[in-house]
Amino acid sequence: MAIFVLVVVASLLPLVLTISFALLKWNEIRYSRKKGLPPGTMGWPVLGETTEFIKSGPSFMRKQRAKYGNLFKTHILGCPTVVCMDTELNRYILFNEGKGLIPGYPESMLEILGRRNIAAVDGVSHKRIRGSMVSLIGPLAMKEDLLPKIDTFMRSFLNNWNGKTVDIQETTKEMALSIAFRQMVDREPASLYEMFKPALDKLVVGALSLPINIPGTTYYHGLQGRKRVVEMLKQLMEERRSSSKAYDDILYRLLLHSKDSKYSLTDEEIIDSIIIVLFSGYETVSVTLMMAIKYLHDHPKALRELRDEHFAIREKKKPGEAIDWKDYKSMNFTRSVIYETSRLATVVNGLMRRTTDDVVLNGFTIPKGWRIYVYVREINYDPFLYPEPFTFNPWRWLDKDYESHNYCFIFGAGNRLCPGKDLGILQICIFLHYFATTYRWEEVGRTEILQFPRVLAPKGLHLKISNYHE
Ligand code: HEM
Repeated sequence: MAIFVLVVVASLLPLVLTISFALLKWNEIRYSRKKGLPPGTMGWPVLGETTEFIKSGPSFMRKQRAKYGNLFKTHILGCPTVVCMDTELNRYILFNEGKGLIPGYPESMLEILGRRNIAAVDGVSHKRIRGSMVSLIGPLAMKEDLLPKIDTFMRSFLNNWNGKTVDIQETTKEMALSIAFRQMVDREPASLYEMFKPALDKLVVGALSLPINIPGTTYYHGLQGRKRVVEMLKQLMEERRSSSKAYDDILYRLLLHSKDSKYSLTDEEIIDSIIIVLFSGYETVSVTLMMAIKYLHDHPKALRELRDEHFAIREKKKPGEAIDWKDYKSMNFTRSVIYETSRLATVVNGLMRRTTDDVVLNGFTIPKGWRIYVYVREINYDPFLYPEPFTFNPWRWLDKDYESHNYCFIFGAGNRLCPGKDLGILQICIFLHYFATTYRWEEVGRTEILQFPRVLAPKGLHLKISNYHE
């Protein structure tokens, strides 16, 4: 029997190889009709090279770069794409949206995050929505409105952890979602958050999944999550509009903006703005905070210096007094820890752009409608920019701060520079302030951390917490 199977397989093998070769060749020929394309391979029809990209992203990228150079073509996530690993060119692309290089996130992602979300629009719509967003989460709003609320939230969130063992991965996620939700919708009954949470969870995970829309898949659940979140937001907006009560939250201000001509948003834009802010600040903030806690645990000298910074702030304050803007501004070492963490544990690997016309880059022509994957991960480990790039060294950011780095794209660049950058950093700083001055933490067992496609501790990151002053 075994011999029979072997004979069948052996006789079919040439046929399978011929068909595979023909399919790969056909896909190459299909795309090579375009003149002036960069070198590279297009993989299988429809699938392209998505499987290799998702399974072994960084090594796939390095392998292709070794063969084809810093600019190569491929087919990933359903689109013909040019990957750019050239530092200077990446900067040019991010700073030149007006030259036909607009954001190009996959359709599947837009289905979940919304077609009117800020990252899906360009030109005057982008300017208007971004203006509205910056007025709500930018530095002025942070200083006058958000900081006191974040301070109160963190104190209550971190209360009573002595003696507990916490999975800091889950806990930081819970923190990031809960605080972002409260900024959006404040003073609603706690049960509202409990109703939103499962739908939001599904939406966030679904937006980053393989886009297979059949019942049971993560993507399918993501779409269901969006449907539910939209229903709940619409109902809330109706209630708010029919009431004369004033609220101190972002939804209230967005509804006010909808009457104001400068930042006037449609209902669809309000909903998509809320969803994109909840989505953008969720995994980015939670993962950066989790990894900062892990690196501080593994590097006692850095933890000592961070604690010194925060105890110096506490010494000038009365017991229980809140952190103010001046205190926050003085947290220079903590900010350096956050930048170094974001560099080393890259959360955003690359940024997607789409060409609105044929665009010439480094002598190659990128056809209209193609995606450009501005791959920024590798830049974070460039030994010329960051000597000993795999060493956790927050001090390097004290010598040269974030703004002086021309090629650091941790928070994007150009007119898409993350509008929540400072808010995300503020939340992490305030969490670390109360965490490091109140507690010590010991990792329980050894933690496995995956770095790609997402930074993830598959079994969690468990910490034993005890009071610092005992
Ligand atoms: C450590 C935390 C964060 C990191 C690493 C991060 C990273 C980024 C990056 C790389 C981009 C550029 C995307 C592109 O060019 O296509 C971006 C955009 C954006 N981020 Fe963040 N982000 C963080 C926190 C936040 C927070 C807390 C919020 C909201 C409160 C936020 C809201 C946004 C929005 C709305 C955009 C789109 C901007 C536009 O298209 O004009 N981010 N972020």
